[in-house]
Order: sequence, then C-alpha cells, then structure tokens
Amino acid sequence: MRYKFKMWVVVIFCLLPMAAFGFPVARCVNLANGLEAPFEGAWGYTIRDEDIHAIARDGFDTIRLPVAFSNGYTSGQINPLLLARTDHVIRTALDAGLNVILDLHHFRTLSQDPDRMSPMFVEIWRQLGAHYAGWPDGLMFELINEAHAKLNTRTADALFDKVYPILRARHPDRWIIVSGGEYSHRTTLSRLKRRDIRTAYSFHYYTPFPFTHQGASWVTPKPPERGPLSGAEVVEIQGHFADLARLDIPLLMGEFGVYHDKVSSEDRALWMGVTRRAAERFGIAWCHWGYRSGFRLVDPSGVWLPGLREALMDG
Ligand code: BGC
Repeated sequence: MRYKFKMWVVVIFCLLPMAAFGFPVARCVNLANGLEAPFEGAWGYTIRDEDIHAIARDGFDTIRLPVAFSNGYTSGQINPLLLARTDHVIRTALDAGLNVILDLHHFRTLSQDPDRMSPMFVEIWRQLGAHYAGWPDGLMFELINEAHAKLNTRTADALFDKVYPILRARHPDRWIIVSGGEYSHRTTLSRLKRRDIRTAYSFHYYTPFPFTHQGASWVTPKPPERGPLSGAEVVEIQGHFADLARLDIPLLMGEFGVYHDKVSSEDRALWMGVTRRAAERFGIAWCHWGYRSGFRLVDPSGVWLPGLREALMDG
C-alpha cells in the first residue's frame, strides 16, 4: 500500500509542468486587448475581476498584463489613471494567487525611432521601478513587447543595459523578462545578451503564421483561410522547441495562439495542444495570447470554447 502511494506521488509529480531554473511561471494567459488599447474598452474588452478569479480557478498560475504606458504619457509622467488601474488588476491577480508579468506593450515609436524614444523608455521603467518597490515577488517586469524595425536584438540589448541597473537597485530579486527583435522571434534568442539569474528570455510563437492569423484584419495581405495543421507542420513545430531547449536558459513563450474569427475551435485546439505540449516537454513556460477578446479562450459569457481547455491543460 505504502509503495503504491509513493508511486502515485511520483507519477503526479512527473505530470505537472516543471518550473525550470526556478522561473515561477508554467501556465499563463495574456489579459489581452484591455490596457494596451488606446483606452480600456476601445478594443471591446474591459478587464473584470471575475475573469481573473476564473483564470486562477482554471489552472493558470500567471497572467501577463500588456499595458501601453506610452499612451497618455505627458510632461514626463506615466498617466496616473492608467497606473492606478494597472495596480488594481495586479493586486486582484496577486490576491487570487497568480503571478503577474507586467509587460510594456505597443510602444511602437520606440521600435521606429529608438534613439529619440529611449529616454522615455528609461523614464517609464524608472517610474514603474519606484512605484512597484516592495510589491510581492509574484510581480515580474517584461521590459518591452515585440521589438521590431530599428529596435533589433542589438539595440534592444543596449536599452536593457540602461534599465537593468535602475531596476535592480530596488528589485534585486524580481524576475525580469527580455526578448530579442523581429517581434520577439525565437531565432533572436541566441544573440541576446545573457543577464543575471533572475532573468527569463521570451519569444512569441505563431508558426505557421498564415495558419494562426487567418482572418486577422491587422495583417496585410490578410492570410487566406486554410485547412488544419498537416503532419509535416506538427513535426516542424516540435523541432523548433527541441532547438530552443538547447539554449539552456529560462524560457517563456510569452505569446502563442490562433485568431478565433475564421478558424474552428477544433483546428485551434489541435495547434494549441501540439504547441503547448511541445513547449512543456522541453520545460518551456507558456502564456496564451488572449482570454476573452481576440484569440479568445472563452465565449462572451465566460464559457470555454470547445476543446481549448483540454488543449492547454490536459496531459
Ligand atoms: C499584438 C496583438 C496581436 C498579437 C497577435 C501581439 O503582440 O500586440 O495586437 O493581436 O500579437 O498578432
């Protein structure tokens, strides 16, 4: 009897996603389309406390909170209303037992003109660093979402060099998340500077892009509708994760998902399950892009779409 009990413990332990390198994130969801919109609600989603409670109940350990702190930044100051709203969401999530990745999102002018905008980037993080001093360890900072254009892996690293000492002065142990250029493409990670042991490295994964972005109005040309993943595409996805694992650093797939508009839940579930399992197999933490709005997991009344919960949470 005793022996049987121990075996069960071992089996259950092996089935749980592992926190690699002490990085406390395993299963995460982006509270997308809320605070990174021009104003909350502009993109059809207002974050509700009940969503955060449902996320905690449904088996996630973390939310990623995209916030466009460059919106409403005036006279060298972060918009105080946006900051107060961000505080509320973070507190609600921490109180619900979730970690929070605070992500500086949609700062597009930084990518277009890093020389001109870098002082503002540094200032935003100086203010956030001061404001969140002493907050629980479950809060993490992600320095920039999807660097692109002139903000390539090298220039992004140079900006991180400026912000690290400022943040580390007050947050010596807080996890900081960085990523490379080309919209946080996985292939930039090998060129990204290695930092301290409380740093995780993020990439975004939407491969094959014409599959995951069918019907996405913001992509030109708009990818045409197509069938489900092929066997060859499944093998290709698995290969990408095996390659990533060789980097031997704490990794976060900070965004992945399939746009919900044109693709059936069944086809989305297949892609999500294949991708999520490949990540977990190699100890890579993940964060699904979208909860209740674009790339949604649940319908407008909060009920999971068919097959998606299983794709993210089961075996
Ligand atoms: C962007 C979203 C977009 C998503 C998938 C995110 O990084 O901020 O606007 O929907 O990627 O394309």
